[in-house]
Amino acid sequence: MHDEALTRWQRGWSASRGWTDYQQVDDVTVVRVDEPERRVQYVASEENATAAAHLALTDCHPPGTSWLAIATDDPDRLAAGLKPLEPVRTEWLMTISLADQASYPVPPPYILEVSATPSVIDVQICGYGEVAASGRMAVLHTGAVADLITTEPAHRRRGLARAVMTALAHAARSHPTTTAHLSASPTGRALYESLGWTTVTPLLVARTAGTPT
Ligand SMILES: CC(C)(COP(=O)(O)OP(=O)(O)OC[C@H]1O[C@@H](n2cnc3c(N)ncnc32)[C@H](O)[C@@H]1OP(=O)(O)O)[C@@H](O)C(=O)NCCC(=O)NCCS
Repeated sequence: MHDEALTRWQRGWSASRGWTDYQQVDDVTVVRVDEPERRVQYVASEENATAAAHLALTDCHPPGTSWLAIATDDPDRLAAGLKPLEPVRTEWLMTISLADQASYPVPPPYILEVSATPSVIDVQICGYGEVAASGRMAVLHTGAVADLITTEPAHRRRGLARAVMTALAHAARSHPTTTAHLSASPTGRALYESLGWTTVTPLLVARTAGTPT
């Protein structure tokens, strides 16, 4: 279930973060991350959750550094079934056709800055002498993926995140890609719903037990 959306999101998320080394093992996508607190990321649908858990519990990475994102209709039930893996949070895999996303301007006095490589667009909104909000969108043949959408606390609820999403969508529309995905935090979900995004499935985020050293 949701395999295509999950794959499209993983491809774009990996491109956004520069995690270019990934492979399929037992229908689980294994992404080599090699960061101190996240050595590896396993991505799977619920049918393959047991295989993903087995991979995480038997790999050679330090405690707490093997992460999982599992698409599931019931994150709490799945988390209980995956012990001793530790549930971290629930996110939501969301999607939209970029042309359907609502558009909002950058509110004055803030200024928009856009930069892009062939596959990654970066947006910053600056004001009052600092970067107030930012976001990224990877644009691949498998679709676009929004990532790292953030507004600094002092600048929230002024419409900056929706202006970031608007700028990313406009820049991405120069590519053939029309469909976008992202994984939303609870607060992010309210933002994206206000822009027309819909939820594909909840995602359970979990990791191996223990604290990275
Ligand atoms: C989520 C986040 C990016 C929103 O940034 P923002 O600049 O405050 O968002 P906007 O002002 O553009 O909000 C647009 C709409 O999104 C929704 N929204 C935004 N923040 C919300 C919140 N805390 N609670 C409920 N709805 C919210 C509202 O519909 C809002 O419109 P309104 O203010 O007219 O009601 C910001 O809170 C943040 O950086 N949070 C921490 C990181 C994070 O969770 N990022 C999302 C990762 S997926």
